[in-house]
Amino acid sequence: MSNHALENAAKALAKAQCAIAFTGAGISVESGIPPFRGPGGVWSRYDPDKFEKSYFKRHPQEVWPLLKEIFFDMLGKAKPNAAHYALAKLEAEGKLAAVVTQNIDGLHQAAGSRTVYEYHGSTRRMQCLDCREFFDTPSISLDRLPPPCPKCGGLLKPDFVFFSEAIPLDVHMEATALAKQSDLCLIVGTGGQVMPAGRIPYIVKNAGGTIIEINLYESDYSYRTSDYYLEGKAGTLLPMLIEKLSEFQS
Ligand code: APR
Repeated sequence: MSNHALENAAKALAKAQCAIAFTGAGISVESGIPPFRGPGGVWSRYDPDKFEKSYFKRHPQEVWPLLKEIFFDMLGKAKPNAAHYALAKLEAEGKLAAVVTQNIDGLHQAAGSRTVYEYHGSTRRMQCLDCREFFDTPSISLDRLPPPCPKCGGLLKPDFVFFSEAIPLDVHMEATALAKQSDLCLIVGTGGQVMPAGRIPYIVKNAGGTIIEINLYESDYSYRTSDYYLEGKAGTLLPMLIEKLSEFQS
């Protein structure tokens, strides 16, 4: 990735009046959380069909141990990395309006980001599919699987979006409305393959906005949508972009 590309991206970010970040699994890889696709991806080791909502409801005994292994065992250990902190810094300096994330790991909030739209929900809560009650994840023991609902003994489901499950409508509406007002989208660590979340950068682009992409590999955005494509690790490139930005900020 050329210094020229970084410099031009920083200049575009400095000029932006309402920038948002759109993030995916790639921003958390340097926190020790594997991506879903690409080398070492979760879906190369586990069958995504098992995380389809109706399959889960029919086979909770089979799916819950996988959920614990993939999403909950590493949760307590994963910490925000330099990329998460860089976005929180941008927001604190008034240069980022919000993070729209597909991630469910809560690392943006842990790094200090305050306006975070979680398109696919989060691991922070669980919901009972029988009595519909919500529970904070730390209050639920995973020693016994599936964990029974503390209130009615029913089936608990993590409060993140399973395949063929609806996106949280309020998040979808608010994030879409913000994207329509944004004049820059900073894509970090996502292949943009999953909709409707993946539409966010296109909405900004179609509204005349600028797209900066930080990605380890080329994505669906790279050569048709991104105005600046910075190839590399988010934990390295985002702090460099912020550093360069400080040189151009009026
Ligand atoms: N720095 C920057 N980008 C990285 C890094 C890194 N260190 N490591 C990987 N990437 C990029 C890859 O280039 C790829 O574009 O992260 C992306 C990982 O792709 P996916 O695993 O498909 O992640 P994501 O796009 O967020 O998946 C979207 O798919 O399974 C569903 O709900 C799940 O939210 C997820 C959605």
